[in-house]
Amino acid sequence: MQTAQVVIPGDLIDLSIGHPSLSLLPLEIMQRAAEHRLNQDDPALLQYGFEQGCGYFRKSLALFLKGQYGVPVNPGHLFISNGVSQALDLICTLYTRPGDLIFVEEPTYFLALRIFADHRLRVVSLPVDEEGLVVEALEERLAKQRPVFLYTIPTHQNPTGVTLPANRRRRLVELSKEFDFLILADEVYHLLSYLQEPPPPFGSFISEGSVFSLGSFSKILAPGLRLGWIHASPELLRPLALCGMLDSGGGLNPFTSALVRSAIESGLLLEHLERLRAVYQERLVAMNSALRSELPGLLRFNEPRGGFFFWIALPEGVHAPDLLPKAQECRVNFIPGIRFSNCGGLGNYLRLSFSYYDSEELQEGVRRLAQVLRTGL
Ligand SMILES: Cc1ncc(COP(=O)(O)O)c(C=O)c1O
Repeated sequence: MQTAQVVIPGDLIDLSIGHPSLSLLPLEIMQRAAEHRLNQDDPALLQYGFEQGCGYFRKSLALFLKGQYGVPVNPGHLFISNGVSQALDLICTLYTRPGDLIFVEEPTYFLALRIFADHRLRVVSLPVDEEGLVVEALEERLAKQRPVFLYTIPTHQNPTGVTLPANRRRRLVELSKEFDFLILADEVYHLLSYLQEPPPPFGSFISEGSVFSLGSFSKILAPGLRLGWIHASPELLRPLALCGMLDSGGGLNPFTSALVRSAIESGLLLEHLERLRAVYQERLVAMNSALRSELPGLLRFNEPRGGFFFWIALPEGVHAPDLLPKAQECRVNFIPGIRFSNCGGLGNYLRLSFSYYDSEELQEGVRRLAQVLRTGL
């Protein structure tokens, strides 16, 4: 019987997987949080929930985010979601119509492209450099076309790992006002910074422009919780809280929210997050040094400062999809860059994830990859 979304054969080192390892999933924290919450004798957590999300939970979450962001967060500006994927889907449902134009980064999170395709949106890609979205390219595009929204992953981007600096963030917000489009900032890796503090999240710009900042517990606690938040102004959140789906079904995930509230208020979430940062930093360093020692000079890549991914440029003329069958024969896997392109580009890039395996397994995975590259070039 299959339980998890992905089942990895024991002998394969699957560097395509951006999931946490089973050993990092916090059974004990959830057990303690459940025990605490279920002992409160409050059956309301099993009732249809308040549409915007339980007020007590939003208050705890707002305090937690304030501690992390270093700027105040108003609980009234938070809407509880089932995670970033569902938040994107809901925003597309309520703010777009089939055929509408949106802008994304090239490369971008490939599964967001699937969600946009479900909504029949027309997608235009904008280039990313070592500092994230190239704002001049956006300005040039805006002179010709107006999108309903721009989808960006500003911090430790999936797949490139790059982070948009503060000045570009500010400029994006200015442009969104000037040209009247929404910003959907997918900030799922913002709290997973290991080697340097990220610039302020887009959540700190919600009073200055039409900004949705999307967060999730998937990467900082557990993806199976299906819990996240949308941080935006009350005007932007209102259509979400008033939508038909919530009118019928109530707020999203009230039971899990109540448990996670205990995990936040007890300090267990913060403790866990600090542990995750230490473990992922060690894995990042292990993958970085394995890539440098196994494949010196052959590959081009920037060392990420957080998140889960290395984005690797292969030598000119080497097509990543062609290497995949050979890699799988050698019991290693990756995602070819083309999956992250909206226009069939990025053929000589690949993405490696360091979230799922421990340092030794990552080193072995890179060794296998090096063997494939040396024989395949
Ligand atoms: C950029 C990005 N957005 C969203 C998600 C999915 O988030 P959630 O589990 O909150 O739906 C992922 C997961 O890999 C991701 O990398």
